[in-house]
Amino acid sequence: MKLKFSLLTALSAALLAAGCSTSPRSSQYDPETEKKIENLLGQMTLEEKIGQTNQLSCYFVPEEMAQVLRSGAVGSVLNALTPEVANQLQRYAVEESRLGIPIIISRDVIHGYKTVFPIPLGQAATFDPELVEQGARAAAVEATAAGIRWTFSPMLDIARDPRWGRIAEGSGEDPYLTTVMGAAMTRGYQGNGIGDPTCMAACAKHFVGYGAAEGGRDYNSTNIPERLLRNVYLPPFEESVRNCGAMTVMTSFNDNDGVPSTANSWLLKQVLRDEWGFDGMVVTDWNSAGELIAHGFAADEADAARLSLTAGVDMDMMSHTYFNHIADLIRDGKVSEKQLDDAVRNILRLKFRLGLFDNPYVDPELSTRVNYCEEHLAAARRCALESAVLLQNENRVLPFDPSKIKRLLVTGPLADAPYEQMGTWTFDGEASHTVTPLAALRETYGDRIQIDYEPVLAYSRDTATPAELAALTARAARADAVLVVVGEEAILSGEAHCLGDLNLQGSQRELMAAARRSGKPVATIIMAGRPLTIAEDLKNTDALLYAFHPGTMGGPALVDLLFGVASPSGKTPVTFPMVVGQIPIHYNHNMTGRPAAGTETLLKDTPVGAGQTSLGCTSFLLDAGFHPLYPFGYGLSYTTFEYDEIALDKQEYAADDTIRVSFRLSNTGDRDATEVAQLYVRDLVGSITRPVKELKAFARIDLKAGESRRVEFELPVGQLAFWGLDMQKRVEPGAFQLWVAGDSNSGEPIPFNVK
Ligand code: GLC
Repeated sequence: MKLKFSLLTALSAALLAAGCSTSPRSSQYDPETEKKIENLLGQMTLEEKIGQTNQLSCYFVPEEMAQVLRSGAVGSVLNALTPEVANQLQRYAVEESRLGIPIIISRDVIHGYKTVFPIPLGQAATFDPELVEQGARAAAVEATAAGIRWTFSPMLDIARDPRWGRIAEGSGEDPYLTTVMGAAMTRGYQGNGIGDPTCMAACAKHFVGYGAAEGGRDYNSTNIPERLLRNVYLPPFEESVRNCGAMTVMTSFNDNDGVPSTANSWLLKQVLRDEWGFDGMVVTDWNSAGELIAHGFAADEADAARLSLTAGVDMDMMSHTYFNHIADLIRDGKVSEKQLDDAVRNILRLKFRLGLFDNPYVDPELSTRVNYCEEHLAAARRCALESAVLLQNENRVLPFDPSKIKRLLVTGPLADAPYEQMGTWTFDGEASHTVTPLAALRETYGDRIQIDYEPVLAYSRDTATPAELAALTARAARADAVLVVVGEEAILSGEAHCLGDLNLQGSQRELMAAARRSGKPVATIIMAGRPLTIAEDLKNTDALLYAFHPGTMGGPALVDLLFGVASPSGKTPVTFPMVVGQIPIHYNHNMTGRPAAGTETLLKDTPVGAGQTSLGCTSFLLDAGFHPLYPFGYGLSYTTFEYDEIALDKQEYAADDTIRVSFRLSNTGDRDATEVAQLYVRDLVGSITRPVKELKAFARIDLKAGESRRVEFELPVGQLAFWGLDMQKRVEPGAFQLWVAGDSNSGEPIPFNVK
């Protein structure tokens, strides 16, 4: 294949690093606003101040909220469902209360409002922050048209345990990828910030460490030492808040090292306010102030309110402890009115920055123009297309050739499941607008391919009899190819939906095996909110596309991939374990003093009577080894890529240098495609033990078949800094290695030094 060279493409990791290279307009200090805040605060009664800190979920009958809004007893409402209701609630607050302070209406707009994008874990698999920002912008345009000016997103929780259902809502296991994606969403939601009517306040959540819930059980305790917090869990929040101007932060449910985040003043004051200079607003999670009692951290509701306000929480979501107890706490001298004033200032500042005092209302007609508009659907389709990860493609079964397939059998419980396809945290997306793979197949190829549909299973946990499976095999044998769509419904991931067994549920494995027995080419799509343990299923399919939950336009996107209109480019944003017993398992682990060699004797080869130390003494599992099924950053393409001529501009760098690493990337196959090139670094010796690899940059590179291109990553040496033994963040001089590759497990190390 003749290779062609094109101009060198310089990709600055600094620009890719987190993308907020411009000072965010959403958090600029404005003396005029501060004067307005002080003027308004000076007019407020104690009850009106307390009312601002009170957030309620909208009652089903908005009129029932009239009284609490007229009396100024509520500062924010979540879950107002239409622009008409939003305007009605605002009228009560603005036109019928003493001071006319607008409320701020909020909602969980997590991965789209009406146009539903892939779940955030799927969006992370695109490694395309510009596209993710477009998705957040689309969500903001649609949601603000309904009067929603505050979303509880981005979720920035690093998740290394797929048993935890909320892994679906974040960007996976890597701090850098989560930082970049969180920054993209923050930018997208907040748009041009102050003065932009489509600016929807972002909420960096859940602050902090929630994804490290012990045992993968939601809300469970975490035990993350400060140094690990600072090196792994805090960076995405710092970027979103400090450099992208996220306007709000939400405290997490978990207690970390015995201290619930909602009452953690080190976190909410020293880190968030003093170190990062955050002047936005802190809200609890739903009733997380009240839950201090269940934690055994507060004696009663009054104590819970005291602890939360003292720690630095401004607004109380749905515990009512602030509303019910702060007046008495002030009277009893247990909190000061100044503490309350500080909280109210942060709330009023948010409302001024959003322009709610100037215009709290929304044009109800706007929604009909922006919801599901072509631009949003196109972005959602592209996001779904880029989020799919090709994990296997034996015999190059994919892409299907429509000229050679006269009959395609489609089976499985998720081939035509419009609601499930949208994924967890979909409140406003409508199944009636979802295009499923089956619908897209019929729409696009129904005129030239006979599309047979036999789900066999009504849902993922459904079971099939041997006769039903035999019938499927027989029917598949009459087709030219089989498409199996399996996985888990939306409800099986997300909040409080954690699993101890990550195998395909019900008879889905048997269904795949039945299709395989037909002897015909089998392609499988898995829709899920997490990595499932699918090692035992790979033998039952030639090709495997992992689609996460792809959202409204998942069907057309997946059909484009199945028939080669585009080549898959997604990469795993989280490690796929061989078995659940390997968890926690993530690529950026420490080496340990006895790293697995990968040559250990496994259980199946372990001789009876083996001597105590005869099997070696390294860090692995006798029955599951050491390596995952798929590493972080992994994904196949319909073509092949080759990395070579990797070169550093220097061998030794000063702390203020920029590392320039160039390489040649070649598309050595016969199809145009996109590769996500990744740059990893290892700090070989540190004042603390360091990860075996850390992602420091990535870039999507489009190459035509046969094309080759020289590419360069620029990585400021400062990006190698970490919090060391003395709890100072710095780059420590010494020996390093770097890799440029298509996943976290490939490539050869290239040495360099930092002096
Ligand atoms: C939930 C979630 C949080 C969400 C909030 C409001 O319990 O933990 O992520 O934003 O309550 O729905």
